[in-house]
Amino acid sequence: MTCPAMANPCETSTPNRLNPPLVRLPKLVQGVGFAFFQRKAMRHWINRHGRIFEINVPFFGRSVVVSDPALVRSVCTASTEQLINVQPNVGNWFGPGSIFALDGSRHRDRRRLLAPAFHGQRLKDYETITVDETLRESANWPENQEFRIFEPMNRITLNVMLRILFGADGAELEELSEIVPSYMKLGQLMAFVPAPPRWTGRHGPWGKLDEVRKALDRIVFTLIDRAEDDSRLGERADILALLLRTRRDDGTEMSRLDICDELLTLIGAGHETTGTALSWAFERLRRHPDVLAELVREVDAGGSDLRRATIFEVLRVRTVIDSVGRRVRAPNFDLGGWRVPHDRTVFVRIADLHENPEIFPHPERFDPYRFRSTKPAAPAWLAFGGGARRCLGADFAIAEMDIVLRTVLQNFRIQTDAAADEKSHFRGVAHVPKLGGRVVMNRRK
Ligand code: HEM
Repeated sequence: MTCPAMANPCETSTPNRLNPPLVRLPKLVQGVGFAFFQRKAMRHWINRHGRIFEINVPFFGRSVVVSDPALVRSVCTASTEQLINVQPNVGNWFGPGSIFALDGSRHRDRRRLLAPAFHGQRLKDYETITVDETLRESANWPENQEFRIFEPMNRITLNVMLRILFGADGAELEELSEIVPSYMKLGQLMAFVPAPPRWTGRHGPWGKLDEVRKALDRIVFTLIDRAEDDSRLGERADILALLLRTRRDDGTEMSRLDICDELLTLIGAGHETTGTALSWAFERLRRHPDVLAELVREVDAGGSDLRRATIFEVLRVRTVIDSVGRRVRAPNFDLGGWRVPHDRTVFVRIADLHENPEIFPHPERFDPYRFRSTKPAAPAWLAFGGGARRCLGADFAIAEMDIVLRTVLQNFRIQTDAAADEKSHFRGVAHVPKLGGRVVMNRRK
């Protein structure tokens, strides 16, 4: 694999000590492009400099941007001694006890603890909850009338996540489901913008975020207190119980603050991402009657192959999270022919990998059949990132999308038409359908 428009091939035996091509614009201008017009700016810079180049932007500083599959593989397979999580990251938003804020052995231990809750048999256990929540949410959907599917999808994925985390529903979960959406909206925007030093203000976005966080902490601590008093805690399968039971190698427990940070992380990372991907699925199906008709035939016959392929294709063609970042911890990190120095940021551009016509012919087309007989594979398909920090909830997200889509297709007929594609709107972390994924549906008799 070579890097188009690069003077050197990507793979060289002796690392080249020069920096990748540099975007030569004032830092602030690059920052505006990066923050507000990221997709356009990245396409422009890739056309100009190739699939590795360097930018200089506020908060992240000098950053190498890669979208060449061979180079992306090197980033994904690097050890945590070489690369740590990008700084700042969403750990800023969820708190220091969040998995996003951990590196090295503490990060590995946390993954080992949480991973079983989102794999294997446990996914089957969540099926009933997901069907229940989908039927509950869709009970009052209007018929023959256009509506935004984004909020309903997010409510389904949020309620599923709350039930998995806390084990039961109740007044506190209802309160959480009311407050979480504003925490998500504001948190995404502020996640990468640390509060100014000595910030004490109660006003402004950081003050507002603090206020919402305090309200969330109050509810989560009530749920922790109740779980600690539960005589059946040892038998409970929910994630709060798992975190309360866990002991580190030295026998110590996780602190209540860390448990709270991690629960909010899982709520945050685990619902709007999947809700957004589902909204994009409906946005695409409205405009692709042939695929939709085939999916309905398949669901009626009890199949699932095309539905799975559709999910993979939605996640490719409408990437929810565009990039993942790392920071060089080692003295240097050799990336193809380039040597990236200590402390520099490396961004992997997921969206630009997914749009690469050498890997995905006609990448702009929504074509689930491209994944009918082949499963998507890293590093070309990277919707969930890759390597030591690959999305912990990837299997769960796919299973959840599958069940929600199946339940909706079994119960509703989605109207198709030639409406213009919805544009993508960047909320700070996720790229969501700009009009909320507008759909018209009728109940199937
Ligand atoms: C379609 C839905 C989803 C998408 C597109 C998505 C995407 C991602 C991406 C791109 C990353 C960063 C990986 C990296 O840095 O290399 C990530 C990390 C993560 N995701 Fe997801 N995610 C989704 C759903 C979920 C769900 C349902 C959960 C709930 C368990 C979840 C939990 C996490 C966690 C905990 C991490 C941090 C992993 C770590 O740092 O070790 N995600 N996700």
